[in-house]
Amino acid sequence: MKRIVILISGRGSNMESLIRAQRAGELGEARIVAVLSNRPDARGLLTAAAAGIHAEALDHKQYPDRESFDAALMSAIDAHQPDLVVLAGFLRILSEGFVRHYSGRLLNIHPSLLPAFPGLHTHQRALEAGVRLHGCSVHFVTPTLDHGPIVLQAAVPVLDDDDKERLAARVLAEEHLIYPRAVRWFVEGRLAIEGLCVRVQGEQRENALRAPDLAR
Ligand code: GAR
Repeated sequence: MKRIVILISGRGSNMESLIRAQRAGELGEARIVAVLSNRPDARGLLTAAAAGIHAEALDHKQYPDRESFDAALMSAIDAHQPDLVVLAGFLRILSEGFVRHYSGRLLNIHPSLLPAFPGLHTHQRALEAGVRLHGCSVHFVTPTLDHGPIVLQAAVPVLDDDDKERLAARVLAEEHLIYPRAVRWFVEGRLAIEGLCVRVQGEQRENALRAPDLAR
């Protein structure tokens, strides 16, 4: 049984999609053992606790610098002996030491088709850039922000009358589909990292790309 720790900062809808997938038996032999947040007021902590999962806040504001917070966070995570750490809307830059400690077992979801639009405000930036395709990416985390071997992406169309909220909602619906799938592949031991590329063993290459509704 693989042990999963999820890190959140707020709403926690991606975390919820993973909890739902676990309940439906769609994560494989895995159990979400803890949800940690750097913000005590993160709504997702209540959702996790209501689902019977250990939910804990570590307020980053109580630490003098990034390194000391990351060290405390690592101890809190490691107390649960995770095989996989999942960033699900965890909106903090992680120190290099943290990222290296979880190298090869740290996944993130980002609301853009990486390497386009790393960082914040991805939907607004996609609209301003006039791209016709936008989406989301699940990737292994490396010390460079929003950069790392891509496991799975989903693409959505950008429509003429989109605003950032409508576009964000279309992307979020895809996030909720691809994150559980990527986590299941990890749990099944099917992800092989080769440089910046991820090979998904026993899976059609096409299944690492969701592109629904593009003709809309
Ligand atoms: C999601 O859209 C996620 O992709 C994004 O934050 C949102 C969290 O929503 N993450 C990032 O921007 C990380 N760079 P959620 O709390 O409802 O899952």
